[in-house]
Amino acid sequence: MTRTKVPPTGREATFSEDEIIVTKTDLKGRLTYANEVFLRVSALSREEALGQPHSIIRHPHMPRCVFKLLWETIEAKREIFAYVLNLAATGDHYWVFAHVTPSFDGAGRVVGYHSNRRKPDPERVARIVPLYRELLAEEQSLANRKEGLQRSTERLLAFLREKGMSFDEYMLTV
Ligand SMILES: Cc1cc2nc3c(=O)[nH]c(=O)nc-3n(C[C@H](O)[C@H](O)[C@H](O)COP(=O)(O)O)c2cc1C
Repeated sequence: MTRTKVPPTGREATFSEDEIIVTKTDLKGRLTYANEVFLRVSALSREEALGQPHSIIRHPHMPRCVFKLLWETIEAKREIFAYVLNLAATGDHYWVFAHVTPSFDGAGRVVGYHSNRRKPDPERVARIVPLYRELLAEEQSLANRKEGLQRSTERLLAFLREKGMSFDEYMLTV
């Protein structure tokens, strides 16, 4: 059953530092597994979550270029670290530090994807917020979605070039 998305409330959904939010998806990003912590923090029942696209918890303040990079990386059989802002079904939000990896079968083929997320350090999140805000503004500055995405991707790559870091290096050291 798909729920209609509730607009953000501005309230934070909390979870503790010793909890890990875990989900697995198929090759298209549809949820095939969600642990209890994910369901609780996202305010979803297992029936509501499984089979749904992972964008079920997408927050409108997340820049699309981050997800574009995420998908390009995991489809290239590599792992990625990223700060992600998510939206619970109640409209409450929560930041995570995610480690997303492909899952392989015995022949080395990608059979799905896996994400483990920890509660992030608020000081690090505070440094990510202005970057994501700028990327989102770049994205929304053009009426054409595709061109907006291209522009924010270029901005992100230019930012990383200035820092002399890969996306993962920046995420791990911010
Ligand atoms: C294993 C895995 C975990 C993901 N975790 C999240 C997540 O926590 N939040 C999120 O918004 N998108 C997550 N995504 C990305 C979504 O598939 C999607 O690209 C994103 O929500 C943007 O949706 P949109 O393209 O419809 O805007 C994940 C994807 C994979 C494969």
